[in-house]
Amino acid sequence: MRAIAIDGPAGAGKSTIARKLAGELGYIYVDTGALYRAIGYFCLSRGVDVKDETAVMGVLVGLHIELRFVDMEQRVFLNDQDVTAKIRTEAVSMAASAVSALPAVRSFLLDLQRDIAAQNNVVMDGRDIATVILPNADVKIFLTASPEERARRRYEELIGKGVSADYAAVLADLKKRDYDDSHREVAPLKPAEGAILVDTTGNELETSIKILSNIVKENLDK
Ligand code: DC
Repeated sequence: MRAIAIDGPAGAGKSTIARKLAGELGYIYVDTGALYRAIGYFCLSRGVDVKDETAVMGVLVGLHIELRFVDMEQRVFLNDQDVTAKIRTEAVSMAASAVSALPAVRSFLLDLQRDIAAQNNVVMDGRDIATVILPNADVKIFLTASPEERARRRYEELIGKGVSADYAAVLADLKKRDYDDSHREVAPLKPAEGAILVDTTGNELETSIKILSNIVKENLDK
């Protein structure tokens, strides 16, 4: 099986670009952030403190998370309930970041991610795909952009969806998430050894897709 690992901070364009690449290659696109979001969402819905590892561990017992691929599109199931749409709020983003710092949560999700890559050709995106989950991925990419540009993209996405948003608040949340994700003790966000760094600041989406598509083709052929 072949694997393309794409890591990077929130809003760098990982999911849009990874989905497009997966389509070009006929691989499945795996959005691993959705797994942490599902746990964050479940904790919020149960009133569990997302920073309390013992309390979160209590929730993990008996919790069944599954990624199903319907027409190549990922859907997230929590105890057989489809939560794909419910995990996209800002509150869930912050909860996901908090639970993702807990070692118990990361080990709970490790095999699930590796199993998908063992059974399918994947483009997998996240924060620790090339560093921890799939260190032998065929291509490793670290995708980034300036915080201001990432916040602007996120802000425009929310406004486009008709959700009211405040740019300064979006930027502040994103900076906090960047800091927390890259300073945690377990599997912090950082470029893997041998990862190709791509900064998409100032690029049109199509340009970034072309750049990554070329990198992937060149490196898969090696
Ligand atoms: O990619 P995302 O915004 O959906 O991810 C939500 C949070 O989950 C992110 O702030 C950090 C965490 N995460 C992680 O720790 N490791 C991953 N592989 C993917 C996401």
